[in-house]
Amino acid sequence: MIRIEHVAKQFAAPRTKTKGLPGLTLKRSEPRFVQAVSDVSFTAPDGHITGLLGPNGAGKTTTLRMLAGLIAPDAGTLVVNGIDVVSRPREALAKMGVLSDSRGLYPRLSARENIVYYGRLQGMSAEAADARAQSLAQMLEMSELLDRRTEGFSQGERMKTALARALVHDPAHIILDEPTNGLDVLATRALRESLRWLRTPAGGAKCIIFSTHIMQEVEKLCDSVVVVSHGRTVAAGTVPELLAQTQESDFEEAFVKLAFAAEAPETAHR
Ligand SMILES: Nc1ncnc2c1ncn2[C@@H]1O[C@H](COP(=O)(O)OP(=O)(O)OP(=O)(O)O)[C@@H](O)[C@H]1O
Ligand SMILES: [Mg+2]
Repeated sequence: MIRIEHVAKQFAAPRTKTKGLPGLTLKRSEPRFVQAVSDVSFTAPDGHITGLLGPNGAGKTTTLRMLAGLIAPDAGTLVVNGIDVVSRPREALAKMGVLSDSRGLYPRLSARENIVYYGRLQGMSAEAADARAQSLAQMLEMSELLDRRTEGFSQGERMKTALARALVHDPAHIILDEPTNGLDVLATRALRESLRWLRTPAGGAKCIIFSTHIMQEVEKLCDSVVVVSHGRTVAAGTVPELLAQTQESDFEEAFVKLAFAAEAPETAHR
């Protein structure tokens, strides 16, 4: 289970120098910090797919990066399986498989080497990691890619490799930042099937969190949805619950209502 409570994160936003760009002047009133996340809280149970839904810049990636221990929160708590991410990051990370939005593969290594290397970092034997790479490749329909260097891989091929790498140590918690970005319809379906299976007791009753912009994906896959807007959790529940809460029959309409409720009507409709 994953528990996130009142996390916040601010980034310094250094201004570019305007020197050399005639006509461009710096507005003194503009803030020098970006409040990427102000107050996000939610719980993601085991055997459950939790969708993190929010507009561009809402703070989804920042929240997931804090969960993966990649950046420290300014405030709040992130707990994975009872382990506090800030004070025990290595232990927490061992319980998580993380697919970040940048993918970050080693281009000079083959797909197999990328996957096995990560398994080794997680304490697996080379044989166990290789066997796991093989079976994950089958599940993700990328067996023929395994021994190619990842340099030059297409977006979808990189995504599959990064996903296999995230799952190599069979983590109980799976955190995916827009995993279907760049995937074609068949690969998206395969991923959906895999996630559905991983959620079942036979698949390990994994705790799965994924962020997306795609409403159909949420409707088809998620057991519950957390809506994030302007760095805050603004709603959480099942799709039917969110429809009832907004008195909408269409989930896209419900999402727009929830995500842009605090904005002026003219902004919300733009
Ligand atoms: N390293 C950083 N430095 C400065 N600002 C940042 C940094 N990372 C994120 N931000 C800002 O924080 C806000 C939240 O960004 P984040 O990437 O978390 O949004 P998101 O919900 O994942 O959006 P998207 O749907 O576009 O992926 C944005 O305004 C972004 O510009
Ligand atoms: Mg993002």
